[in-house]
Amino acid sequence: MFNTRSDRLPADNLPTAYRTFEVSSLTPHIGAEVRGLDLAQPLSNEQAQDVNDAWLDWKVLVFRDQRLNRDQHKAFGRRFGSLHTHPMQHTYGGDPEILTVKTTADSPYTSGDGWHTDVTCDEVPPLGSMLYVTETPASGGGDTLFADMYLAYELLSEPMRQFLDGLTAVHDGAIPYIGSYKSTPPEGGYPRNEHPVVVRHPDTDRKVLYVNRGFTSHVVGLNRAESTALLNMLYRHIDSTPRLWCRVQWEPNTLTFWDNRCTQHHAVWDYYPHSRYGERVSMVGDVRPSR
Ligand code: SIN
Repeated sequence: MFNTRSDRLPADNLPTAYRTFEVSSLTPHIGAEVRGLDLAQPLSNEQAQDVNDAWLDWKVLVFRDQRLNRDQHKAFGRRFGSLHTHPMQHTYGGDPEILTVKTTADSPYTSGDGWHTDVTCDEVPPLGSMLYVTETPASGGGDTLFADMYLAYELLSEPMRQFLDGLTAVHDGAIPYIGSYKSTPPEGGYPRNEHPVVVRHPDTDRKVLYVNRGFTSHVVGLNRAESTALLNMLYRHIDSTPRLWCRVQWEPNTLTFWDNRCTQHHAVWDYYPHSRYGERVSMVGDVRPSR
């Protein structure tokens, strides 16, 4: 199989030098490692602006060799928004601003082991997440894949993009939190909200394909067979198009900061019976996803 001409898009020519640090890219369009920042120290305004610029450019930023306590992790998150409390917090206990991501030989599942965007069931989903991994599997593995959802949209045909542009879908927290994780819902149930199938990133104004296998239950106005066929086609596009992805290989003390408004991710559980441990903070979005 060869790409057809219309399938080819020029690789982005994204910057690798910012005022206060440089980055090395994981792929031409998604994922970059940032060198020369100690996240345990408060960031200057210039550094924070550079991180924001690089994050918008590269969508996924990887910071190696960080030594962070929880307060430092949360302080870094707060530079980009107020901190989010996960809908399953009532089942976890502990610090409401920290989501523990822990997998051992006894775990019935590993969080995020499937393509998804974090908590799109919320009315205003988290704009970004920062996962700080301190224990990686002794066997290797435990990588996280990230997909560029701008490119996912742009690689669709023009008629398909036009069709999707007018649609809305339902995102339901019960799908992962009850269906996959078997948790007991809080009073009032898990969040369930509608978002456009194609949204515009609020900062870049670029269009993003905004449905995900983790949370999207159906497309409003289509019958069940149509909705299922359409969503399965889009999910297949995401999970069978490697050029959309970058792969973050964790080392102990790596922090990865991703933009939830234009990416999906998939935590690969390939390391049973070994263990992996990290803590995540997410920042609350400032606007509802919109066209
Ligand atoms: C998640 O935030 O979905 C978990 C990601 C990971 O464990 O790599």
